[in-house]
Amino acid sequence: MSSVRDQVLRRKPVQQTSEDTGGDSDSGELKRTIGLLPLSAIGIGGTIGTGIFFILSQAVPIAGPAVIGSFLIAGVVAGLTAVCYAELASAVPVAGSSYSYAYATLGELTALGVGACLLLEWGVAGAAVAVGWSEYVNQLLNNLFGFTIPDVLSNAPEQGGIFNLPAVILIAACAALLIRGTSESTTANAVMVLIKIAILVMFIVIAFQGWNSDNMSDFTPFGFSGVTSAAGIIFFSYIGLDGVATAGEEAKNPRRNLPLAIFISLVVVTTLYVLVAIVAVAAQPVEGFKNQEAGLSQILQQVTGSTWPGTVLAAGAIISIFSVTLVSLYGQTRILFAMSRDGMVPPIFHKVNPRTLTPVHNTVIVAVVVSLLAGLIPINFLAEMTSIGTLAAFITVSIGVMILRHRSPDLPRGFRVPFYPVTPILSIVGSLWIITSLRAVTLYVFVVWIAAAVAWYFVYARTHSVLGRSGRGKIMQGPLP
Ligand code: ALA
Repeated sequence: MSSVRDQVLRRKPVQQTSEDTGGDSDSGELKRTIGLLPLSAIGIGGTIGTGIFFILSQAVPIAGPAVIGSFLIAGVVAGLTAVCYAELASAVPVAGSSYSYAYATLGELTALGVGACLLLEWGVAGAAVAVGWSEYVNQLLNNLFGFTIPDVLSNAPEQGGIFNLPAVILIAACAALLIRGTSESTTANAVMVLIKIAILVMFIVIAFQGWNSDNMSDFTPFGFSGVTSAAGIIFFSYIGLDGVATAGEEAKNPRRNLPLAIFISLVVVTTLYVLVAIVAVAAQPVEGFKNQEAGLSQILQQVTGSTWPGTVLAAGAIISIFSVTLVSLYGQTRILFAMSRDGMVPPIFHKVNPRTLTPVHNTVIVAVVVSLLAGLIPINFLAEMTSIGTLAAFITVSIGVMILRHRSPDLPRGFRVPFYPVTPILSIVGSLWIITSLRAVTLYVFVVWIAAAVAWYFVYARTHSVLGRSGRGKIMQGPLP
């Protein structure tokens, strides 16, 4: 019988993780088929969604026009961590996510904690994204048919509604697609990326016509603290870039393409975000952003005096956000699938339907829980919970990079973080800095969530661990197996 210390620290051998996930890159079972452009499209496609179309309007009243700086700060933090993901993905050749990396490097309990953070990154993000979607649906319905879904059916209780019905319908539609086995191919993703980029470029060009420097005369009305608080919320807009790093196992020529795709995604996303933020705050005074729904559409309508640009933008936002919701739900079901296969959560999450070859029960459970969150909780709280979960996972990955360099310096790595150890340390500091800017209620809920995950470990996962039962786990001494 192993001690509790051995149990919480046991690591899953990389070889076993590769076998579980369908083979390793050496055996050729996972093919390196994704080239540089589709890889970059994964990063851009999974990232641009509700954040820029919705959260900008939430952030401007906090930072003022200096929200531009908030976008830059959030972009730098996201960039530093994305680079850390790239090294770990290339060093630990497993399909999956930071949950798998943590299991291979930091031990079982930490892996479960990272899994809990990823539930926030993907599951709660899916809810937040769906709430943003419902506002653009209302905007489109209003422009096209002159009616909107009543507030009671399109808002969370805290915002005067009963239930956010469009958000729930979107989640149900995405779940139905996932159950049928429909997955976003890289080509379809690339098309959606082109639509997203075209819509944002259209916004920049049209909103630029409404440029009024007076709107930026008081650039930092809420001081530097306003800028960092807004960066905490805006960080949500950058979530998704880590998708590039986790696709590393299927990337062609990963040593070159992986960091390059991350760099391309980061530059494209940050450039678009900053340009959109600049023209938005120049076109509309700070007061105009307060309580503004479907903000970018409304700015276009004000600037042009006609509804069609706002209608086109709302339609583009609906397509963009649909794809992010689909990817979020898909990511969530995959994380739970991997955790279930390891015995960390009940086996129902890795049951595959023999007809559709998809995890149907898993998808239905995820869709129901995410629907409840989307229907009942306001978007700003959901977005902050997503950010804190993602930041905590990012910190673990950055620590994982340093532990692995120390423990297994000779392990082959397709990509090495530049300026080591400055980059992972800055990534950790940046992530912690953004965490401290989040609201206290978010931090409390997060602490409770992690405490619940630890309790879950001792009540369930520790004894159901497949690794523990197989006796193959290694505790954290010595080099990586
Ligand atoms: N980054 C994603 C979005 O903004 C989650 O929708």
